[in-house]
Amino acid sequence: MTHKRITIDYIEYSAVDEMEPQDRELVAAALEARKGSYSPYSKFRVGAALRLADGTIVQGANQENIAYPSGLCAERTAMFAASSNHPGVAFDTLAIVGGNGAEVCEMPAAPCGGCRQVMAEYQRLYGRPLRIILIGTHAIYKFDKVEDILPLIFDSLKVE
Ligand code: THU
Repeated sequence: MTHKRITIDYIEYSAVDEMEPQDRELVAAALEARKGSYSPYSKFRVGAALRLADGTIVQGANQENIAYPSGLCAERTAMFAASSNHPGVAFDTLAIVGGNGAEVCEMPAAPCGGCRQVMAEYQRLYGRPLRIILIGTHAIYKFDKVEDILPLIFDSLKVE
């Protein structure tokens, strides 16, 4: 028996002005994307902004439904919109922000497991790391790749 440990690295910023200009722009786009949230049931408004390798920014917001499972998270809305409208263009960075009503969470809201798995799929498809930025008013986290928020990614199915 061997005891093993997985560690991850990430950057924590205390304010957006510590970030690179391109990332600051993406944070602003994620905050703006929250305007498109349709969340009458949870009242939790999530915005996502995805920068593609060609510089295009695709936004998404969570969409809820009276039949609960029929809704979709903000991140997946953005990723599916990007894949649908810009097929073949790699994903570079995904910024996410959530909060109740008009407020933004103090500490970054972490993406759900389903969204992490979808991030992993596009990262594998495009063969390059997908950076992830999680935004709160008191802290912003930056991860260099999906493995840092989803260790032991399922990839055992042979698809090639
Ligand atoms: N939500 C997201 O948009 N992204 C996540 O990663 C977690 C949750 C949404 C789904 C639902 O509309 C609301 O937040 C409350 O769960």
